[in-house]
Amino acid sequence: MSLPELIRDPAAWQRRCTAARDGGTRIALVPTMGYLHQGHLSLMREARRRADEGGRPGLSLATIFVNPTQFGPTEDLARYPRDLQGDLAKCGAAGVDMVLAPDNPGAVYPKDFQTWVDFTEVSKGLCGDRRPGHFRGVATVVAKLFGLSRPHVALFGEKDWQQLRVLQRMAVDLDMGVEVVGMPIVREADGLAMSSRNAYLTPEERGRAVAISRALGDARRRAGEGERDAAALSRGIQAAVEAAGMRVDYVELVHPERLRPVEHAVPGTRALVAAFLGRTRLIDNLALP
Ligand code: PAF
Repeated sequence: MSLPELIRDPAAWQRRCTAARDGGTRIALVPTMGYLHQGHLSLMREARRRADEGGRPGLSLATIFVNPTQFGPTEDLARYPRDLQGDLAKCGAAGVDMVLAPDNPGAVYPKDFQTWVDFTEVSKGLCGDRRPGHFRGVATVVAKLFGLSRPHVALFGEKDWQQLRVLQRMAVDLDMGVEVVGMPIVREADGLAMSSRNAYLTPEERGRAVAISRALGDARRRAGEGERDAAALSRGIQAAVEAAGMRVDYVELVHPERLRPVEHAVPGTRALVAAFLGRTRLIDNLALP
């Protein structure tokens, strides 16, 4: 296994990507905040496959940048887990050619930075309401990473379902010419959705965290058995998550694309949960049958 090339300077990265793109190389990008887990690696393996789709070797890229503008003032920016050397080894094993890891936020947001990406609808509700400014920060940094990397395709995990919808919307609305692809959630053996933030959990909390995916699984089973009442399904999820000692931030059943709450679950309706376990905020979601 060889390590990917590490580039620290966004301008140098942009020169390399632009030359590759202009030379006809197909580019696939996985933006991350690092502390990589199997969910990220599944995106990177798919990026490798999609980069090489054109019949000749393409360029599989990853970025590692803990983006300060998507964290609220009381959130976990300062303690967000980091492990660049470990991440580079994982990227190499997943077939990534080059990694951009800017070494300070000023390299991405220079002093005179003043342009932001905003939304009218898709960033409302759910995490958008609970984390004001979060999607503005996410979309702005991803727009910049698209501009720097010039990808044909970019891959994101479905665990952050609203983020995925926001970024798909942005790519279409702003004519970015990037295909934004969502990839299925990767889960631990007991069902817990993989997340870099799982590293915050104590062993005791880790045991209880599985209640979220179990509650969603129960809702899926009940919907499969004919329960269509969204409020009843939401109440069931909420009760199970609270019974595991978590503080529910939201439980909602929504239209999978518009993200508006629904009264009746139909095939494809998305059930989403955010809950605090101690200081750790966990999210998860699934499609109902
Ligand atoms: O999902 C993430 O890790 C981040 O929100 C992203 C898309 C890399 C933007 O910082």
